[in-house]
Amino acid sequence: MGKCTAIVLAAGKGRRMNTEVQKQFLEIKGHPVIYYSLKCFQESPLVDEIILVTGKESISYCQKEIIDKYSLSKVKKVTAGGKERYDSVYEGLLACTDTQYVMIHDGARPFVTQEILERGMEGVLKHKACVIGMPSKDTVKLAGEDGCILDTPDRRSVWTIQTPQIFEYSLIKKAYDIMRLADMSSVTDDAMVVERAVSHKVALVQGSYQNIKITTPEDLLIAEVFLKNSL
Ligand code: CTP
Ligand code: MG
Repeated sequence: MGKCTAIVLAAGKGRRMNTEVQKQFLEIKGHPVIYYSLKCFQESPLVDEIILVTGKESISYCQKEIIDKYSLSKVKKVTAGGKERYDSVYEGLLACTDTQYVMIHDGARPFVTQEILERGMEGVLKHKACVIGMPSKDTVKLAGEDGCILDTPDRRSVWTIQTPQIFEYSLIKKAYDIMRLADMSSVTDDAMVVERAVSHKVALVQGSYQNIKITTPEDLLIAEVFLKNSL
């Protein structure tokens, strides 16, 4: 197996969380949110290197208070992100050095596990592109501009998407290079870039219902409960 780099994203502003400290640096159970996923990648035998993408103003904080403090030796670079998530991902892709696979992960998802990384690696070896997700527990509706329901997809075919999203490096880099010349404003995950730019099939791989993204204040309460039960 070739070299695998994890790109961990922590350059968002956390507008929906709306706390003074950005959500990825808030502490749960005594450690910053971002620490938990970095630890998972650090401990994974599948991962060779980690690139941490954060705000320009947070680079030295991350280096001192997270990477040095927790001895995260696989973090080879801390690089500045961009305005949108897809800008930050692109900075992460540019920071990779001759890697064959990338695992792109939201630093705001502390509950990624070794089992998820193993299933994801299996998926990328087979399909070159895969994303972690779970079948939707809720019925999903497509809304029209008038605020009324347009359509209801069959729930059995609806998945909610998590991270990591795992790709052969050359495939995702090419897809981003193509998409960056077009309008990216509706892009919310990396699979979309591959679906649209290179029309390569992206496999769905089971994550877990615990692999939540810390997005709004109640997610912090849920995260505390998950951590209480796992320790
Ligand atoms: N992210 C990033 N660079 C950006 C935007 C987001 O690195 N310009 C990262 C976030 O730090 C987070 C992940 O992408 O780990 C998922 O994004 P999201 O949950 O939307 O975080 P924020 O953009 O920070 O939050 P919000 O959308 O509420 O402002
Ligand atoms: Mg966002």
